[in-house]
Amino acid sequence: MTIIKTKQPAFHITGETGWINDPNGLIFYNGQYHAFFQHYPYDTKWGPMHWGHVVSDDLTNWKYLPFALKPGDECDKNGCFSGSAIVYNGKLWLMYTGFIENQGGESIRQVQCLAESADGITFKKHGIVIGEELLPSGYAPCDFRDPKVWFFNDFFWCVIAVRKIEGRGRILLYKSKDLLHWDFVNDLFGEDSKGTMIECPDYNEELGYLLSCEQFQPSENGIHLNVHTSRWHIGKIDYSTGKFNEVNRGIVDYGFDMYAPQTVAGKNVLIGWLNMWDRNVPSEKYGFAGMLTIPRSVSVKDGRLYQEPIVNCEKAVKAEVKDRLCDRLTKGVITVKVTNLKDINIKMRSNGVNYTYLTLKDGEWVFDRSNSGEAITGVEKDLDSLNGIRRMPCSNNREITLTIVMDEFSVEIFEDGRALSSTIYPPADADRLEIAVKADSCIYERANVILKA
Ligand code: FRU
Repeated sequence: MTIIKTKQPAFHITGETGWINDPNGLIFYNGQYHAFFQHYPYDTKWGPMHWGHVVSDDLTNWKYLPFALKPGDECDKNGCFSGSAIVYNGKLWLMYTGFIENQGGESIRQVQCLAESADGITFKKHGIVIGEELLPSGYAPCDFRDPKVWFFNDFFWCVIAVRKIEGRGRILLYKSKDLLHWDFVNDLFGEDSKGTMIECPDYNEELGYLLSCEQFQPSENGIHLNVHTSRWHIGKIDYSTGKFNEVNRGIVDYGFDMYAPQTVAGKNVLIGWLNMWDRNVPSEKYGFAGMLTIPRSVSVKDGRLYQEPIVNCEKAVKAEVKDRLCDRLTKGVITVKVTNLKDINIKMRSNGVNYTYLTLKDGEWVFDRSNSGEAITGVEKDLDSLNGIRRMPCSNNREITLTIVMDEFSVEIFEDGRALSSTIYPPADADRLEIAVKADSCIYERANVILKA
């Protein structure tokens, strides 16, 4: 099937055509950032997974390269699933999951494969490096995927998601001297996840956090309402025991659309999939489905994961807001700095009839996309989800800085290191931004994204 893309976001990564999901193999290599992603170019639905590939100098402007991996070999017959990248001996290595469907169900095999490249563009596959035989008994070889590899203390280490045959999600740790031969170390938590399966683990040794995604995770007092949730765990791996010592945990994003976040190898930068499983994707009619979030610089502050947007942009407008402000904007970055905030209402992408709404209520940011434009429905049945609402705690600081990154089909909202990301599909004429505020002072700034041809 040939697909033509008729619309696209200005600075968010999408497929050149078709479907994308998780970011994969995020890395800086040979002077450029490389982002790979789960990709099915021939339809706007998930299909046999390829690795799409883009590169960037500034993390904002991305250029397509040929697919890095295509399925079809014995080790990845039906798909090249998620994984990660590492530089070793001057080459770029990809570790990914080969998906072999067999007769489906329990007969599926998911195996960890390796590919290498000397130029960062064409990849040579090495086949399976962690197969079923390296899986301890009791773990399901049909649900064993998404290797994240890093180097520390003379060894390569790798975390891989798996499911217990009679249970739920786990994360396993492996180690290797050469990326080709691996040994099993331990089950990081040694207990089942609450969701049915874990996916896309990610570990940042320098900052001390682990990321994990849970499928079909029951909501805990409304904290995460998305049916699939991405979580951070602050803490470190004890390499002598292969256990993770968790200090604190929370969710990566409070919005509707963020899954499978991954850290760029060796950099404190995070990118996620700006979509969610089990929802309709209105952009299918424009020839694409799925985007990646903008990169976020990450740190650990006050025992939690702290994210700030990275966008290459230049200041365009600065104004003091007395009570109200109107601007025109469909893409760009706005910053609202307020002292002693009492009340704020922001209408984004408004044409008077449709708009996306952000307000503050009982110490929480309340985001509402119910009237944004085209409807997005999912499998979530709680009231907030049905009403197009997501909430995020608001800091109780005297000075509050709210940053909103807007692109054609998304808004990503940041405050005090927390993020709320959602797709929206507004009408083309919805270009107004309206802010009504009650505070001691309020400064509004708009920056335009620097887009290179
Ligand atoms: C997460 C995921 C991964 C898998 C990939 C397949 O979104 O389900 O576990 O490798 O997507 O595309």
